[in-house]
Amino acid sequence: MNILIAGANGATGRMIIKELSTNPEMNVYGMIRNEDQAQTIKELGGHPILADLEGNVDKAVDNMEAIIFAAGSGPKTGPDKTTAVDKLGAIKLVDAAKKNGIDRFVMLSSVGSDNPGQAQGSMRHYLEAKHDADEHLKASGLTYTIVRPVALTNDQALGKILAARKVDHTDKSIPRADVASVLAQSVTEESTFNKTFEILSGDLPIREALKDS
Ligand SMILES: NC(=O)c1ccc[n+]([C@@H]2O[C@H](COP(=O)([O-])OP(=O)(O)OC[C@H]3O[C@@H](n4cnc5c(N)ncnc54)[C@H](OP(=O)(O)O)[C@@H]3O)[C@@H](O)[C@H]2O)c1
Repeated sequence: MNILIAGANGATGRMIIKELSTNPEMNVYGMIRNEDQAQTIKELGGHPILADLEGNVDKAVDNMEAIIFAAGSGPKTGPDKTTAVDKLGAIKLVDAAKKNGIDRFVMLSSVGSDNPGQAQGSMRHYLEAKHDADEHLKASGLTYTIVRPVALTNDQALGKILAARKVDHTDKSIPRADVASVLAQSVTEESTFNKTFEILSGDLPIREALKDS
């Protein structure tokens, strides 16, 4: 399967590339917006593709069979970039998938995206952007999986999560490495198809938790 990772040079994106590249059935392509990042993607086992979510993504999706969206403008940029990348960039990639007959789309979303009105300030704007991107994906007709983690950490993978439609996320976290595994495994795990679920660190091995998601 040819699979494109948007946000490939990100903390979570790099882990997704590394994990998927161990699967001989996957040809993993990492979308980067800077040539200097190409070596990193190669070292992780992926093939770099130069593209910017604020620009043209047509070449990046050419010949792909699945996409994972793990990009984001990050908390240091202003609301304009949140709109441009987290919302419009994601929507652009969904539309490009549809146009090119790529049926499988896995979205890294966030807890709170179901109800952005409950948040304040820049978090509210970010969650509105994620919400709009998620809704666009759901309405696209693609086979989607929308994964909404609690706060991400750089802790070591635990390999165990709780996945549910709604979780209590107060003061909860999950290692990026586990989120990366959830996204990577969801691509082919049919029990996650056309589902939206929240995740945090828990008691069930990831594969088992996804079957119950
Ligand atoms: N932080 C949390 O606690 C949390 C909780 C729930 C969900 N999330 C979601 O998880 C996502 C990933 O988190 P992370 O920590 O792995 O993020 P990250 O390290 O900041 O990675 C984001 C990636 O997106 C890329 N990107 C930004 N703008 C782009 C553009 N215009 N075109 C192409 N790529 C672009 C960045 O590229 P460069 O490398 O070139 O900068 C970067 O590689 C976040 O964006 C957020 O939506 C985060």
